[in-house]
Amino acid sequence: MPLLKMSDLKLNNKHVLIREDLNVPLKNGEITSDIRIRAAIPTIKLALKAGAKVMLMSHLGRPEEGVFDAQYSLAPIAARLSELLKIEVPLIQHWTGGFSMHKHDIVLLENVRFNKGESSNSQDLAKKMAALCDVFVMDAFATAHRKEASTCGIVSFAPIACAGPLLTQELEALNTIMQNPKRPIVAIVGGSKVSTKLALLDTLSQKVDTLIVGGGIANTFIAAEGYVVGKSLYEADLIDEAERLMVNAKNRDAEIPIPSDVIVAEKLADDSESSIKLVSQVDDNEKILDLGPDTIKTLTAIIKKAKTILWNGPVGAFEVEQFSLGTEAIAKAIGESKGYSIAGGGDTLAAIEKYDIADKIDYISTGGGAFLSFLEGKKLPAIAALEAFAIQYEKVT
Ligand code: 3PG
Repeated sequence: MPLLKMSDLKLNNKHVLIREDLNVPLKNGEITSDIRIRAAIPTIKLALKAGAKVMLMSHLGRPEEGVFDAQYSLAPIAARLSELLKIEVPLIQHWTGGFSMHKHDIVLLENVRFNKGESSNSQDLAKKMAALCDVFVMDAFATAHRKEASTCGIVSFAPIACAGPLLTQELEALNTIMQNPKRPIVAIVGGSKVSTKLALLDTLSQKVDTLIVGGGIANTFIAAEGYVVGKSLYEADLIDEAERLMVNAKNRDAEIPIPSDVIVAEKLADDSESSIKLVSQVDDNEKILDLGPDTIKTLTAIIKKAKTILWNGPVGAFEVEQFSLGTEAIAKAIGESKGYSIAGGGDTLAAIEKYDIADKIDYISTGGGAFLSFLEGKKLPAIAALEAFAIQYEKVT
């Protein structure tokens, strides 16, 4: 269903309220990755260039609603936006009742989640937000899976509601992968738990040619093949599911390869003694913490031949240097592959930054949960709301 796009509208002299996802990681008040802020900049610049009075809104973290909490203030984000845009972006503290933009062309509204009713999609709050603008632009793909007042409710009350360029770009990239991918397709899904990614693994095992599993997820598949995984992170209650996925993949001539060798240690620490073991030789007191060299060789060869690659999640405990070789090798192989590549998810973005391969990946999604929901085949509530608006808008214009 086509959405109304920001680029289809005249924004000159209009009050334009843009919902971005500026929910970035902070440590001691400092932004540790500004990927999401930088991703929003082209949309903001386009709106300013079109002559709009721009109001930006976003959430940060999960504060208690109705209570101001300085650790969730968007103040550091306002400062970074000012640097990147090279104009002052003032932060408006109290804004739901309206405010004047004075001489400013752009303002940032304080954390939407400080408002009571944001997460429950309060219609009252949504109406107040909508009353601020002539045009509402939903550009926060990374929050499109949340049915909240600033992502969904507002769409029913805004005079015009459209999709911003970042949201549009994310949807186009993800649709390329989901609707008409070139084969062979390789998906790499890492992370700690099968349970949090079961729906994704299920969808992908029915679509891709090779589904590479890593991290704790791989351990559950290794256990499903009947190997000892010792003290490794794995989910015993999901062994049957892992078996089912492997059988399903095999039945359609696809594959979920199990590592032939692994890196093990008794504990996850910089100074723990680690060794390379065949997957059949892991001891009861050991933890599997990374892929072994033979496995890396096999998997990187598969990745390099792929025409489409999807990556979500590290394949080992890459935050500890001695268990980072698998994730580094996979990241670099994706970077070197000529196939169309797309990656997303918080840890994945951290790995992309660590191995400096951002410019070698065709599309990096800003989404974490939204990226997974979309790939699982779920309809994102904010997209459904924009689609409904586009149908109504077409009828009346
Ligand atoms: C994310 O980081 O995935 C998005 O910003 C959504 O945040 P949430 O999970 O707190 O809704």
